Amino acid sequence: MLSSQVLSATAFAAAAQAVSFSVGSTGGNATSPYQYGIMFEDINNSGDGGVYAELIQNRAFQGNDVYPSNTTAYWNPLGSAEISVQNLSAPLSAALPTSLQVTASGSGTTGFSNVGFWGFPVVAGWEYKGSFYVSGGLDGNLTVCLTSNDDVQYAEASVEVASSDEWTQYNYTFTPTVDAPNSNNTLNFTFAASDLTGSANFNLLSLFPPTYNNRDNGLRIDLMEAMGGLNPSFFRAPGGNNVEGLREPYWWNWTQTIGPLTDRPGFPGTWGYENTDGLGLVEYMNWAKDLNMDIVLGVHAGYFLDGTAVPESEIQIYVQAALDELEFLTGDASTTWGAYRESLGYGPWVVNFVEVGNEDSLGGGGPTYAAYRFPAFYNAISAKYPDITIITSYYDVDGVTPPFNASGDFHEYAIPRQMADQFTYFDNYTSAHPILIGEYAIIEYDTGNKTGPEWTPGAPRAFVPFWYGSVSEAIFLLGAERNSDKMIGAAYAPGFQNLNRWEWIPDLIEFDAYPGHTTLSTSYHVIKLLSGTRITENLPIEYDGVWGPAFFVAGRNAVTGSHIAKFAVYNATEEVPFDLSFDGVGAGATGNLTYITAPMNSTNPIGGNIVETHTSTVTAAHNGSFIFELPPYSVAILEIGAAAAGPGHNYGNPSHRRGWKGFKSWARRTATEAGVLVVTVGDCTCIMMSDERR
Ligand code: AHR
Repeated sequence: MLSSQVLSATAFAAAAQAVSFSVGSTGGNATSPYQYGIMFEDINNSGDGGVYAELIQNRAFQGNDVYPSNTTAYWNPLGSAEISVQNLSAPLSAALPTSLQVTASGSGTTGFSNVGFWGFPVVAGWEYKGSFYVSGGLDGNLTVCLTSNDDVQYAEASVEVASSDEWTQYNYTFTPTVDAPNSNNTLNFTFAASDLTGSANFNLLSLFPPTYNNRDNGLRIDLMEAMGGLNPSFFRAPGGNNVEGLREPYWWNWTQTIGPLTDRPGFPGTWGYENTDGLGLVEYMNWAKDLNMDIVLGVHAGYFLDGTAVPESEIQIYVQAALDELEFLTGDASTTWGAYRESLGYGPWVVNFVEVGNEDSLGGGGPTYAAYRFPAFYNAISAKYPDITIITSYYDVDGVTPPFNASGDFHEYAIPRQMADQFTYFDNYTSAHPILIGEYAIIEYDTGNKTGPEWTPGAPRAFVPFWYGSVSEAIFLLGAERNSDKMIGAAYAPGFQNLNRWEWIPDLIEFDAYPGHTTLSTSYHVIKLLSGTRITENLPIEYDGVWGPAFFVAGRNAVTGSHIAKFAVYNATEEVPFDLSFDGVGAGATGNLTYITAPMNSTNPIGGNIVETHTSTVTAAHNGSFIFELPPYSVAILEIGAAAAGPGHNYGNPSHRRGWKGFKSWARRTATEAGVLVVTVGDCTCIMMSDERR
């Protein structure tokens, strides 16, 4: 294979699918400062049991009439104990009325244990921080122990509990000295049955491993690092369907997600389980801050997933909630909500984007959205916050276009052939308002009995992203980049799949309680590559070939001074040779070529990676051309750093270009019939084509 090597003139001329283009130095469209981001909602236990680092499942027995709280799910008695859930007349808090009641008989060790989110990670050297509230007749030593299912005791702490009718919080820490080989571990709370008089009630039992940036009530380090690896610029949260809510009165009411955990009642998430709301608005904002992302704040738009729209007479309730939320996030201490935020210890955040609702065109929501819901939000928010970009929750270039003078959120779940066909999709977008691609993903293979280009709702999904699907996503992303003056940016969705419990596949990152199982999918690697090198100014491409199997964009980065080209090679059967030049990049310039590739149908195994990364240096020939090959189904970046751009063709210096132009016309005149001329000057060999493009 000659990939990423300089090709001989003969090889280049003989190659059937050679792609030749040149990149100008002026006249390209501007780009969005955002481009690549993350979309997140608590789906697939990706918040609770996922990014939110809490390790105890059902820690506060939260519930409602959707997911009843009268359950001891995830808790088991030990020894002679009997456990139940109770609503005491003196609960821990109004938000957390239900607690775990423990009784025991006889003597000996007794207690209860939690199974975690399908196990607990045990990592040597991690300091775990735990706490619980207790009231009732327990007087004595309580041991908390991280124990394997075959009884290896990895770490334990002793807590002296004094009997009281008042709820009292106890804290503990422990640090294992060895790693557990898997997550088949439980957290056991034990005490002498003789220390219990009557019963004791427990609530808000919590255990955190170390968290990202060491934040209290923080986020899981490896998953945050994985997201950070995507170099994301924006963060769309908290959904997705979750921002809508299942039905009245359950909507993502931000006021119930802030403040002490004892004040957060939880929320019946839209993905089959109760959300603790430990991962609340402040945690989302800290997450955005820690990964240096701008929030795209989803607000409830008076529409529920059961198709109920709030009547016009009541919509102001939800509009006011959004205004209050913005005041909480951005207001100073002179404002009611700003003052409350300050009292919680957080400075103001910046909000540049608000998305009103989610997919409001579905289920019959479009007419009310158009008639009064969106206008009510738009008018109120833009009046008070004129600098905020307000985004409608749906957009379709070809079809359902919201009738508003605002940005739209375009969602694209597709099969590869459909996605790969959309390189030029946004070329026709002419609105003055940039589009958000708030969700996109390949969700099925092209296989099966499908003949059309569209995915089939209800057809079998891919379990995880697969390589040719991920490359087709790269084509779509490059299509967005080529139009990035019209874009806010793009985010894959959903972000995470807990391998023990999911509703939506495929997802960008798979994980479970065991850190060694965290899997960065093939699509993850595509985004990481494309997002990791940013074009801040697109440059015009002179290319008279067809799009496919090669797709590409080119531009410059104003900060680094680099020239950049990004490529996707899709439906090719052999290596695709490229020959490209940049106006402003001269002979001898060196470019770093990075391409990633994998077997076409392959997927990443749990904890593993089949995506190969190849890097090489490509040197420009005398005419400034970079000649190299990329394999079928690959995604690549060629970056020529400012210091490596070569002499004689400085960007923007027309006198240099005049010299090259003269040389080119001479070359054209004298090219061989095959269209190729090889010129050797000293030890420098140049390849020239008679083709106008060169
Ligand atoms: O990403 C999963 C779901 O897909 C989102 O919640 C919703 O917006 C879309 O339908």
